[in-house]
Amino acid sequence: MALTIAVHSAKGGTGKTSIAVNLAIAYALDGRKVCLLDMDLRGPTLRTFFDDGSSEVPFWVNDLLSGKKGINEVVMDTGVDLGMAGKVSVAYSKADIFEIRELASKDRKWQSNALKNIITGKKELIRNGTEVIILDTGPGVEYESINAVAACDLVLIVHSSTKACSECTEQLVNGVYKSLNKKCAIVDNMHHCSLDDDTLDGMRYGFPVIAAIPCICDIAKRSGEILVLSDREHEFSRAICDIKDKLGRIL
Ligand SMILES: Nc1ncnc2c1ncn2[C@@H]1O[C@H](COP(=O)(O)OP(=O)(O)O)[C@@H](O)[C@H]1O
Ligand SMILES: [Mg+2]
Repeated sequence: MALTIAVHSAKGGTGKTSIAVNLAIAYALDGRKVCLLDMDLRGPTLRTFFDDGSSEVPFWVNDLLSGKKGINEVVMDTGVDLGMAGKVSVAYSKADIFEIRELASKDRKWQSNALKNIITGKKELIRNGTEVIILDTGPGVEYESINAVAACDLVLIVHSSTKACSECTEQLVNGVYKSLNKKCAIVDNMHHCSLDDDTLDGMRYGFPVIAAIPCICDIAKRSGEILVLSDREHEFSRAICDIKDKLGRIL
């Protein structure tokens, strides 16, 4: 059965994109056909993992949301460059200040059409054999992120252990995830506590905490590198594979 995961958080910079990309590639390494969509339209960074920004991108996630293009026109096969031809496709959103400002002015009606376009696109991907769709979202309650949450089967909540993040996550849990009746799992990223912290493998806000990834400078230094591909024994890569296996048991 196909699976759509939205990687979301209350605050920015918690590690969503790093986790979304590596998780997608971990699924592809298992032989699953994967599609990764950049739903962080106000701060897109997904592309930095796949190219230096110089290659031609014919169409963007922005074109999908606005209804100008269908999903098959906005996704690109990146599997060839990664040695996994046909297994990995991505769609980027446009890192352009004018595009981002225009998006911020869109009304509820436009956003509700955007949600319909995402869901139509998702169904089309699944019809074409995609088994795992990963939506890399922006933080908080911007429309695009909540649309991604609404369109997914599971929210992977990437939480960083600060008081501010905890308070905002709790609000999202009660105000969004639970009211949309979403399945969720929590990853504590940049974890500062000891790994025998009692929340690991426990529950928080009624959702399972499936990983606690420590704050490791090497991860930040190698930002933009797909560690599950380049360094499979890295602590981060091992944590990602563990997350993938645990999600398999939850779903
Ligand atoms: N466990 C970690 N330890 C240290 N740095 C991390 C960790 N996870 C992610 N980072 C770094 O934090 C920064 C923000 O990560 P990113 O994935 O872009 O977050 P987001 O998508 O939530 O904004 C990046 O430089 C990334 O390399
Ligand atoms: Mg991001």
